[in-house]
Amino acid sequence: MTERFAQLEWHNKQPYSRIYGDVYFSSDSGLDETHYVFLEKNQLKWRWKNLKEDHFTIAETGFGTGLNFLCAWKLWRETAPRTARLHFISTEKFPLNLNDLEKALSLWPSLQELTNDLVNQYQYVSKAWHRLIFDEGRVTLTLLIGDVNTTLPKIKGKVDAWFLDGFSPAKNPEMWQSSIFEQMNKHSHSETTFATFTSASEIRRGLQSAGFEVLKATGFGKKREMLFGIYRGISGKKPSPKRSRTVIVIGGGLAGAASAEAMARRGYEVTLIERHEALAQEASGNPLGVLYPRLTGGETALNALALQGFLYTLGLLNNIKIDTENYQQCGVLQLAYNERERKRIASVVNEYPNLVQDVNAVTASKLSGIFIRNNGMYIANAGWINPAAFCEALTQHIKIKRQTNTNVLSIKRTSKSWQVFSQNEMITEAENLIIANATDAQKFQQTSHCEMLSVRGQVTLMPALGSSTALQTVICTDGYLSPARKGQHCIGATFSPNDTRTDIRVEDHQSNLNMLKSLAPEWGKINYDLPSLQGRASIRATTNDYLPLAGAILDVIKIKESPPRYNTLSSDLPWLEGLYINAGHGAKGLANAPLCAEIIASMICQEPAPVSDSLLSGLDPNRFALRRLGLKRLSQTIQNN
Ligand SMILES: Cc1cc2nc3c(=O)[nH]c(=O)nc-3n(C[C@H](O)[C@H](O)[C@H](O)COP(=O)(O)OP(=O)(O)OC[C@H]3O[C@@H](n4cnc5c(N)ncnc54)[C@H](O)[C@@H]3O)c2cc1C
Ligand SMILES: C[S@@+](CC[C@H](N)C(=O)[O-])C[C@H]1O[C@@H](n2cnc3c(N)ncnc32)[C@H](O)[C@@H]1O
Repeated sequence: MTERFAQLEWHNKQPYSRIYGDVYFSSDSGLDETHYVFLEKNQLKWRWKNLKEDHFTIAETGFGTGLNFLCAWKLWRETAPRTARLHFISTEKFPLNLNDLEKALSLWPSLQELTNDLVNQYQYVSKAWHRLIFDEGRVTLTLLIGDVNTTLPKIKGKVDAWFLDGFSPAKNPEMWQSSIFEQMNKHSHSETTFATFTSASEIRRGLQSAGFEVLKATGFGKKREMLFGIYRGISGKKPSPKRSRTVIVIGGGLAGAASAEAMARRGYEVTLIERHEALAQEASGNPLGVLYPRLTGGETALNALALQGFLYTLGLLNNIKIDTENYQQCGVLQLAYNERERKRIASVVNEYPNLVQDVNAVTASKLSGIFIRNNGMYIANAGWINPAAFCEALTQHIKIKRQTNTNVLSIKRTSKSWQVFSQNEMITEAENLIIANATDAQKFQQTSHCEMLSVRGQVTLMPALGSSTALQTVICTDGYLSPARKGQHCIGATFSPNDTRTDIRVEDHQSNLNMLKSLAPEWGKINYDLPSLQGRASIRATTNDYLPLAGAILDVIKIKESPPRYNTLSSDLPWLEGLYINAGHGAKGLANAPLCAEIIASMICQEPAPVSDSLLSGLDPNRFALRRLGLKRLSQTIQNN
């Protein structure tokens, strides 16, 4: 399905949906309606002033203009404890385009500051799940672009308050089906409330049959009545707040740095352990890496991760301090250099017209500043980053303590914590442990089943010469060529499986220069003195299915001793409590590692996941071991039940 945006008419300066023939909010005052219906009737002011937990989750059906979100955010700022975090999940089938959203929200001057922050991150909204972070992590918006009937069943986590805000049931029946109420039942707990502007009797009955006690109140504006209430069903317990908040992260590359950031943002004390003197000395130590989504289209886990990971990293870069010497959103041109690429590009351009632009060779040449002979696609928001600077920026948080020059040799679980050892000496201990040391994770007994392969890669640094300085964008075929950074272009990269040496090789420079012919044909003719070229070689940690390993670790020894049935609930499996892995990012660490860090942080803190349950299953770090043990069906549902 292609991205589709809302089609608006403006009636008295208020947004009106042409698709549904209905208003987005009351023409009397949308702002007052939100306060009355959703905030007051869910008793949010009182609940937030007296909040005991460290986070609170609202789920909304119909994001629309984002007015409800902004009002909830503002009230959160005014009432909730400073260290608590608001999660706002909202699903939207037809997102407003950026201009319409800005125009609609300009109706509310009291929300101007928050509107600016939302607009800043909303610019990337596309057909995906988005996780947007505001107020340094105090407020998180998980925006699910898609039909509520497909998105809601895929969310993971408990909801504290529901905002039911589709268009009126008569005009928007698919938003109010019994399947939606069933999902509300599944995601509610004993203190979950709901509110909605409608009082239609079929909605009242649907909510009652899903376990809600339903009450009526006077409606807002011209509406006679509205509904609100509380969950009385048996679906689930409220997650209990954590007492201790400590975590150790092993590995100071992109995965470790992003994991440290995601936990520190949630108020955890983080110890980040790295065996080298500084962070980012191995795979994450290249002078430059390309940040772009390797989209394939369709509903696969690989495509979802590529898109969501890319968008999440862009948002994160918005929130941390990194200078233009180290990060440039210069745009990436992907060239249709063979038939397979031509087909992939055609389908991706068709599926994501908001994100990706179809370009012919003339436009590609204009955009890049150099002669290009292929057609292709252009991703304007993509670009390059210096990964080491990214790791530095991610680990500036006051709650992150770095412990470098420390090689962890083993890890051990006690009754309440994880201890890490160098030789026989215990280095430190914490309630949670995130393993982010790439292929070396397999050396720890507990994560030895997390299969990864080592793939050597070398980049070549080519001095910028004359006309080459005109190159403005990154250009990709099966490799990449960057604009000059500090007087050098980066060309990458070779791909040598099962080779773990990191010497610089002339034949690898030659291979990169051969590829250059497909990227920039004019430059391919230049004769370089290969031995004098600079470069860097390091090892990628890849997996057999090209998806990373992100999630909680099972006790595989116990599973071997007593194999569970395929329908065993995830919570009944023998998990190694508090142990997680973020690794196996292959050639896509910039787009993948930060989102995987956010996934793991959400698991540790029992918060809503940033991605769908099917993507969580795809990333399950135990999947290869379970398949080997003949438990393939279990591996397909794990992490999501
Ligand atoms: C040539 C090349 C080009 C690439 N180009 C791109 C690109 O353009 N775009 C992109 O997105 N990705 C690219 N990648 C991939 C990207 O670099 C990786 O996916 C990413 O760096 C992986 O990060 P990581 O933290 O998982 O691993 P690493 O960066 O390898 O970090 C693991 C860290 O763990 C430490 N460690 C290991 N064992 C221990 C231990 N026992 N105790 C303490 N510390 C330990 C290591 O010293 C290391 O610092 C490229 C990779 C290569 C090799
Ligand atoms: C009344 S508006 C929501 C107003 C919004 N809460 C606000 O604060 O502006 C209803 C929204 O539901 C969306 N919608 C309708 N049907 C949907 C569906 N099946 N799945 C997801 N969203 C849907 C509409 O596109 C519209 O944006």
